[in-house]
Amino acid sequence: MKKRILTGDRPTGRLHLGHYVGSLKSRVELQDEYEEFILIADVQALTTHFEHPELIHDSIYQVAIDNLSVGLDPEKTTMIQQSMIPAIAELTIFYSMLVTVPQLSHNPTIKTEAKNYGYKEMTYGFLGYPVSQSADITFCNAHLVPVGEDQIPHIEMTRKIVRKFNDLYGTEIVEPEYKLSSVGRLCGIDGNAKMGKSLGNAIYLSDSPDEIVRKVKSGVTDTNRISVKIPGRPEVCTIYKYHEAFNKEECPNIEGMCKNAQIGCVACKKLLAEKLNQMLDPIREKRAYYESHIDEVKEIVSEGTKKANKIGNENIAKIKEKMHVQM
Ligand code: TRP
Repeated sequence: MKKRILTGDRPTGRLHLGHYVGSLKSRVELQDEYEEFILIADVQALTTHFEHPELIHDSIYQVAIDNLSVGLDPEKTTMIQQSMIPAIAELTIFYSMLVTVPQLSHNPTIKTEAKNYGYKEMTYGFLGYPVSQSADITFCNAHLVPVGEDQIPHIEMTRKIVRKFNDLYGTEIVEPEYKLSSVGRLCGIDGNAKMGKSLGNAIYLSDSPDEIVRKVKSGVTDTNRISVKIPGRPEVCTIYKYHEAFNKEECPNIEGMCKNAQIGCVACKKLLAEKLNQMLDPIREKRAYYESHIDEVKEIVSEGTKKANKIGNENIAKIKEKMHVQM
């Protein structure tokens, strides 16, 4: 029996290179060794986008296509629409009894996001989304969650909840582990620590070759380097960080040339844009296929959701029995 992976995305728009580096890439690498569940977290998306449910709905298939186009095999991968899984909603309520409000309000990811969204007062739903995410991961007893760094506090909270829950009620819910992506978090092309749609500094998996060139050109390099003749400092350069993430082989060479003023920023950006476009070309090809076969995509999500419900309904029934939540 293969162990199970669960990970997910909020459908609030298209996925970008930050998602790719942080999670999508390892999903593809792990799909043979594990049984893989990809959750399209449309309820979690509501915590920040409750005024635009139509945008979330439109993004569900966009996110499914992003996942499929990077190479997730629909034969091996189960795609799940979160809102259609009642077991997640039920489990969220049960888990919520075991989590204190300060535990949530001190969660570093919650704090950062609240700041990014400009929330002075957080809704109950937003503050509580890590509890719901714990239910996402455990309704099907996932063993492993491949994530970027910012999700670690949520996985740690999940483990804590599960231990307490199993202790209290004698359930046997699996305590999940996380797998951090091997490449660190990707900064925005403007040098901002985080890449994000709301920050306007994202490069999307679905960007055209021209858009890639344009965005890479706008990228921030070593600001001291006003002339090609001045030696550069790769360690402060955003473009170099991208070379490290997407063009590892050529890095020693680029680093040397930059430090010795043998390559200018324009040429260095050109190299990066070419590399990115090379990487994205096969992804574009798959995207074009799925975009013209949208019924197939819908079928993949609906079959996956059905399969997940079968597992979730069985598990939640056992859990409720143990809790004496019964007639
Ligand atoms: N919080 C994750 C993000 O913002 C998305 C997500 C929802 C998730 N449910 C999950 C990730 C379960 C891993 C496991 O990207």
